[in-house]
Amino acid sequence: MQFLTSLLVLWSVSLAAVASPAPSSITLQKPFNATATLEHLIDDVNKKTCSDCQDILLWLQAVARRGLDEFSKLWQDLCLEAQGDTVDGCNGRQLQDAVPLAYVLSNMDIPSHTSTIFCNVVFSQCDLPPVRPYKIPFPKPKPAKSLPRVSGKKPINVVHISDVHVDLEYVVGSNYNCSNGICCRVTNPIDGPKFTQYAAGPFGNSHCDSPLSLEKSMYSAINEIVPDKEFTLFTGDLIEGATWLSEAEAVDDMNDVHLRQSTLGQVYPAFGNHDTDPVDQFPLEGLPLTRDWQWVYNTISENWKPWIGEEAAQTVKTNFGRYSIVRPDTKLRIISMNTMFWMRVNFFMYLREMPFDPNGQFAWLVEELQKAEDNEERVYIIGHVPMGRVDALWDYSEYFDQIIQRYEGTIAGQFFGHTHHDQWEIAYTDYLNQTAANAVGVSYITNALTPTSGNPTFRVYSVDPETWSVLDYTTYFTNMSLATFQEEPKWEKYYGFKETYGPLVSPPYTDPSAELTGAFMHNVTEVFVKDDAQFQAYNARKTRGFGVTPCTGDCKYMEICQLRSPQSQFNCIGNAVNAQEPANFTKREAEFYSHAVDDCHQAAWEGTAKAIRADMSGFKRKLVRRYGDEL
Ligand SMILES: *[C@@H]1O[C@H](CO)[C@@H](O)[C@H](O)[C@H]1NC(C)=O
Ligand SMILES: *[C@@H]1O[C@H](CO)[C@@H](O)[C@H](O)[C@H]1NC(C)=O
Ligand SMILES: *[C@@H]1O[C@H](CO)[C@@H](O)[C@H](O)[C@H]1NC(C)=O
Ligand SMILES: *[C@@H]1O[C@H](CO)[C@@H](O)[C@H](O)[C@H]1NC(C)=O
Ligand SMILES: *[C@@H]1O[C@H](CO)[C@@H](O)[C@H](O)[C@H]1NC(C)=O
Ligand SMILES: *[C@@H]1O[C@H](CO)[C@@H](O)[C@H](O)[C@H]1NC(C)=O
Repeated sequence: MQFLTSLLVLWSVSLAAVASPAPSSITLQKPFNATATLEHLIDDVNKKTCSDCQDILLWLQAVARRGLDEFSKLWQDLCLEAQGDTVDGCNGRQLQDAVPLAYVLSNMDIPSHTSTIFCNVVFSQCDLPPVRPYKIPFPKPKPAKSLPRVSGKKPINVVHISDVHVDLEYVVGSNYNCSNGICCRVTNPIDGPKFTQYAAGPFGNSHCDSPLSLEKSMYSAINEIVPDKEFTLFTGDLIEGATWLSEAEAVDDMNDVHLRQSTLGQVYPAFGNHDTDPVDQFPLEGLPLTRDWQWVYNTISENWKPWIGEEAAQTVKTNFGRYSIVRPDTKLRIISMNTMFWMRVNFFMYLREMPFDPNGQFAWLVEELQKAEDNEERVYIIGHVPMGRVDALWDYSEYFDQIIQRYEGTIAGQFFGHTHHDQWEIAYTDYLNQTAANAVGVSYITNALTPTSGNPTFRVYSVDPETWSVLDYTTYFTNMSLATFQEEPKWEKYYGFKETYGPLVSPPYTDPSAELTGAFMHNVTEVFVKDDAQFQAYNARKTRGFGVTPCTGDCKYMEICQLRSPQSQFNCIGNAVNAQEPANFTKREAEFYSHAVDDCHQAAWEGTAKAIRADMSGFKRKLVRRYGDEL
């Protein structure tokens, strides 16, 4: 443990070095009350240390080295004992998670950089180590001059949808208030239409993922409201929130949603973390695994082929779900990434040495962007998880931002989903001095169809037909609270970005032909800091006015911080570099908190991990009883 201690000291020293210039530059004043926010979340995690966690990893590793079967049995039993999940969950998802967990644990150096991050993510122990310095290699220096941003020509419409989460097993009249992880299904007879008093309606329920009827209704509305749309971006997550599907079910779900999305005409899709089985898990290249994940890429490649063509579909199949394609007869290139190779809940990331460029996706991205720059194309980058979220591992989030900054003149927009909420992330040339003048690109994050996180929506961008710059966006929604919703959802305009926020900044930013710039969006966040009513209105828009709860104190601080950070190390969560307050905001609580804010489907392993952490000596006694001293 000596080694560990000195390593941690080293890390905290360099973290302090990075963080030290921060105070003068934080423009948010802190109205915090950590106690109030965390009261309901804190357990005895604060008494545990990072080395306790590394110790637990050694015990888990010992079991993992006895083989996958042994580890799976243990993980399943721990889950059942801890009631860390429903019985279905313990026998399903938890068992599937054992594959990546056993693999990475049995190969891990403990303690190490990898095991420390793993402890932070899985057991809420250990501060995240600072970003490992790595300079992304660029073939050419950034050009001094960039292409014009707007042409002034009549704008065209581009639709953006995300997180449809369609549940094919949704049963009208079934129980929306069930005791399983996923409701509005007849999992048990008592949840059936004749027995429950909590009957799910024909077009959906806010406790459940989307029924087919709601999905179809949205696609018809899009075709009706935006008949002249140029194309649609779909940023992933088509499978429902049940995280323990069979492979066959997952394939079926993907094929099925694809069929209905085809009614939209041209779609450019990206991979979501739910679009596989089990959720979140995507192995890195070349791992010697007993299970093969190629079926995921084969399925999606076949589905996407009619939209993206033979060649790009082949890239999807052989390159882990990514593609790059020039829209015919235009100067627009669409680059679709698989963001799951940069995410903390993809357990396959925790290799003994975490690679600087997993599956070569950064090198590939640079290659495609350089091609675009050379050809004077504009680029839309699409992906599922926005890179500034707590979900993104710090290193990869920083490396990605290097690329975005280098090619800012070529990139006309970045489009993401995953949070289910109407949000954005502004990139800056200097994260410790966030000003309008230093703002560069914007990542657009769109809300979900699934009613679990607010009223169902889609978004329409107004786009310059020549430069592809985003000039504005309008959110459409259907109001679940209307009496007529269950007869026929009515889709209508919710709000327009520029008409809502443009008049609030000084000078007003209302010219319809001006681009939505990072500078403008930064100024909007400045309004939020000063004018709480405007911030609360923004907060209500995140869920399209459904189930709105005020966001104050830490919640507000973190939300604004998040709008200003496409780099996860600066998102003010946990021990992020800019996170000065609240002082006692420990890593995992921050994560639970952010899940609560974002309505992400909670990962099933969290309950099991929490139980181990809560009673570490009990856990060790259990292993000794089970395996004796031979472990
Ligand atoms: C913070 O919240 C707690 C619990 O809600 C409350 O008891 C305490 O007075 C608050 N502190 C401040 C400074 O407002
Ligand atoms: C769900 O059922 C419980 C009782 O089992 C009840 O107290 C609660 O109000 C119900 N929730 C909803 C949203 O109907
Ligand atoms: C922050 O950036 C602005 C430009 O937006 C610059 O004028 C100012 O000097 C910078 N401040 C610091 C402390 O670097
Ligand atoms: C942002 O606000 C600053 C003043 O703080 C102003 O000078 C600048 O023009 C604004 N930029 C945009 C794009 O609104
Ligand atoms: C949705 O409808 C309800 C009931 O009519 C209404 O109170 C609410 O304001 C509506 N929501 C929005 C965002 O318009
Ligand atoms: C943080 O925790 C320490 C020790 O647990 C406590 O003394 C201090 O008051 C806490 N600070 C806040 C802001 O809650």
